[in-house]
Amino acid sequence: MAKIVLQGVTKLFKGKNSAAVYDLDLEVEDGEFLVVVGPSGCGKTTTLRMLAGFETPSRGVVQIGGKTMNDVMPKDRNLAMVFQNYALFPHMTVEKNLAFGMKVRRTPKASIGREIREIAEMLEISELLGRKPAELSGGERQRVALGRALLRRPQAFLLDEPLSNLDAALRAQMRIELKRIHAQYPVTTVYVTHDQVEAMTMADRVVLMQGGRLQQLATPEMLYDQPVNAFVASFVGSPKINLFPGRVVQDGSGPKVSFLTASYALNGSHGATFDAVSTREVTVGFRPEEIRLATGNDPELPVVKATVELVEPLGSETHVVARVGELVLTCKLPARCGLSAGDTVSLEFDTAQMKLFDTESGIRLG
Ligand SMILES: Nc1ncnc2c1ncn2[C@@H]1O[C@H](COP(=O)(O)OP(=O)(O)OP(=O)(O)O)[C@@H](O)[C@H]1O
Ligand SMILES: [Mg+2]
Repeated sequence: MAKIVLQGVTKLFKGKNSAAVYDLDLEVEDGEFLVVVGPSGCGKTTTLRMLAGFETPSRGVVQIGGKTMNDVMPKDRNLAMVFQNYALFPHMTVEKNLAFGMKVRRTPKASIGREIREIAEMLEISELLGRKPAELSGGERQRVALGRALLRRPQAFLLDEPLSNLDAALRAQMRIELKRIHAQYPVTTVYVTHDQVEAMTMADRVVLMQGGRLQQLATPEMLYDQPVNAFVASFVGSPKINLFPGRVVQDGSGPKVSFLTASYALNGSHGATFDAVSTREVTVGFRPEEIRLATGNDPELPVVKATVELVEPLGSETHVVARVGELVLTCKLPARCGLSAGDTVSLEFDTAQMKLFDTESGIRLG
């Protein structure tokens, strides 16, 4: 097991003027399950390939287990990898592919068979042990590649979208199995995905990247509750956070924010942030679960009138898309909320978690 450290790691590819990964500083603790997430092309695979040794950083240092790895060959890094294009040995059966990682670590023959049977059962590939990779579906191949990596007992795992080819039910099941294995053998793991649900459910901490740059490194809860900017806020959470143009102004008693057709006196930490501000354009963020049918219980809370455009009953809850003038918002309401398209509703905004961002930079102000 090993701690992984990246210092100022940058990767420039020939013929491209922007860096695929830019000035990345990162410490993955020994035994930590770190998930790297972000939109397509943000530099996730490139980061993992630099850790593995398949790409050389243009600048910066890669350390694994206290040793600088920049000049160490991939095979000498003692890492197990599952890559996006999981390469299995085509001439070997599934069983031989699985056994390969264990041969590398010189496992006694007797326990090879038992460990393979256990891992195959867990990954639901027991029936496939005699087949060759060409005779498998994409999802089956992916599970064989994962099994081979798991059987390696490396000092760290590097996993690049290892569940992407599985159907939703199997993916949910494998998420749980992988977490269970990690709890049993807490090997340092860097897990790449573009699926924010995987990131939020599996990670000890999440790295969110965009355009080759680290946006935020935090626990899933922190990422959701304390996003550093509007990009992070909109990347995590489904449906997405609602972002409205707004303006903070001072009226006699203190700062207030106006957005949609509402206005609200800023208090607590929000109030302190904008105490000295005269006028400022902001982006106001409310998550869908922070907008509800008006109760009137707290007359201070902002309320707007909206027209229901779309009702999505999901069984346990209802997602409602509603329009206020030019703007559209999404809210999460209870199941069987009794609304239909065309209805006029009064919506109340729970301001406890309200987020205010700088309109230009997107940086969160409060
Ligand atoms: N070998 C290469 N040569 C040139 N450019 C590359 C190379 N590999 C990746 N890139 C570029 O670097 C950027 C980051 O690519 P990377 O594969 O790391 O993205 P990713 O986050 O893994 O995306 P995805 O979610 O689609 O897998 C992209 O703009 C990509 O086009
Ligand atoms: Mg990738």
